[in-house]
Amino acid sequence: MEDKIQKLQEKLAEARLGGGQKRIDKQHENKKLTARERVMYLLDKDSFEELGILVTHRTTDFGMADQQFYGDGVVTGYGTIHGRLVYVFAQDFTVFGGSLSETHAEKICKVMDLAVKAGAPIIGLNDSGGARIQEGVRSLGGYADIFYRNVRASGVIPQLSAVMGPCAGGAVYSPAMTDFITMVEQTSYMFVTGPNVVKTVTNETVSAEELGGAQTHAAKSGVAHRTAPNDAACLLDLRTLLTYIPQNNRELPPSLPYELGEEYREALQEIIPANPNQPYDMKEVISGIIDTDSFFEIHEQFADNIITGFARLGGRSIGVIANQPLALAGVLDADSSRKAARFTRFCDSFNIPLLVLVDVPGFLPGTDQEWNGIIVHGAKLLYALSEATVPRITLITRKAYGGAYDVMNSKHIGADLNYAWPVAEIAVMGAKGASEIIFRKEINAAANPTEKLAEKEAEYADTFANPYRAARRGFIDEVILPRETRRKLIRGFASLEKKEVEQPRRKHGNIPL
Ligand code: COA
Repeated sequence: MEDKIQKLQEKLAEARLGGGQKRIDKQHENKKLTARERVMYLLDKDSFEELGILVTHRTTDFGMADQQFYGDGVVTGYGTIHGRLVYVFAQDFTVFGGSLSETHAEKICKVMDLAVKAGAPIIGLNDSGGARIQEGVRSLGGYADIFYRNVRASGVIPQLSAVMGPCAGGAVYSPAMTDFITMVEQTSYMFVTGPNVVKTVTNETVSAEELGGAQTHAAKSGVAHRTAPNDAACLLDLRTLLTYIPQNNRELPPSLPYELGEEYREALQEIIPANPNQPYDMKEVISGIIDTDSFFEIHEQFADNIITGFARLGGRSIGVIANQPLALAGVLDADSSRKAARFTRFCDSFNIPLLVLVDVPGFLPGTDQEWNGIIVHGAKLLYALSEATVPRITLITRKAYGGAYDVMNSKHIGADLNYAWPVAEIAVMGAKGASEIIFRKEINAAANPTEKLAEKEAEYADTFANPYRAARRGFIDEVILPRETRRKLIRGFASLEKKEVEQPRRKHGNIPL
């Protein structure tokens, strides 16, 4: 018996070394943790249970029969984060560059299947040279097996991806179909085709970092939801993200113990400038409302004219969507619409109530927007909010103009409670633009057109640039004081906790993509 135990221990020791000490050293030299170290950082201490540590590949071509490494380039298993079950796979770059073989893919599929059955999140730590070149189509089939599972699990369990090294070619599509991607700055990149192919096909010279590094995807493409300065920070970030979301689509997000107090926030009274054209920072409004320091922003650098992120209100998780007057005056454009639409759909899939803060002057005009399909992208947000059945509360802090008023979680598209601050202006457009159109003849005929325009503008503003027309119709449930917003919202969400919505029978809707 003893020799058998020793044999097992030797095998496990060998397996834990992955591709060997030299390659581990190289990984460290490149400022990257190994797959096993990453799993240890990610999970609660001593909670990891590894599955498939003794798996090896089955390839015999190209002398591969002689090159066997236990685990076959991916560490898989389950453990806990803040005491809650999660499944995890971490690609091991020290074994064939973390490349994906048939057996490597089987290991990932196994933990994905277990995660769905157990109703727990799946977290993928990506660091891979792509398809195992020696295996050909069997490797490609392995990718597709994973993609298929990503789609089957979508909206059932949360799927989180960290990109912590190369992730290129077909490999990008698994993270792309998960709910969130966090990228490590400088050491990770994602692209469908790398710089060499780009040079050959388009004659562009571009570095891997510029083409698909963390900054590029966080700010330009929106592929990455968050970035982190290094591996440890990235893993910590995933741990924090999980605190806002439930284990699966049948559960509610965890709520933190919360004691009443501080329901009134005086600072909110002073935030909106007297001049309606002067911007202010909507993030100050958010932090003025939510539990202290609880905001966890998603897509911070992408389409910053809208803010999306998780927060806690009275200890409970909410998703916040808010126009940002500091960027492009908070207009809706193609990128901000699809950003907010995707966030809405995540929250709705996983029972996270939505708070929508509105200060929107309309949609961004221009050929760039029209030719890039603002119509269809704007429709995404309108559709996503309209179909969301989670509790939905809207607060109009200042402007709600035109079609954007409808889109931003108006009463008409199913919001449950709609509030406005007394300075809110709910109108087809701003008073100046409106007066120039409807009083044009009168203004042109006046002895002093500028004076007349000012007079008409004031008249229009007096009639429409306020929340009371909408309140009289019941489109706004209540005009509230800024200082009492937090209390209203805590009570409002509590009242909607058991909200249920009958859904029409259909296979699925056809959201404009
Ligand atoms: N299949 C098989 N082995 C691979 C591999 C792949 N796709 N990608 C990398 N490897 C192996 C390398 O042969 C090397 O093996 P070794 O340790 O025995 O020498 C090891 O992984 C590390 O690769 P290396 O090239 O030394 O690392 P690097 O950090 O310099 O470069 C990449 C990383 C990913 C840029 C580079 O390995 C690469 O271009 N790989 C191929 C990418 C690709 O075309 N994939 C297939 C299409 S998706």
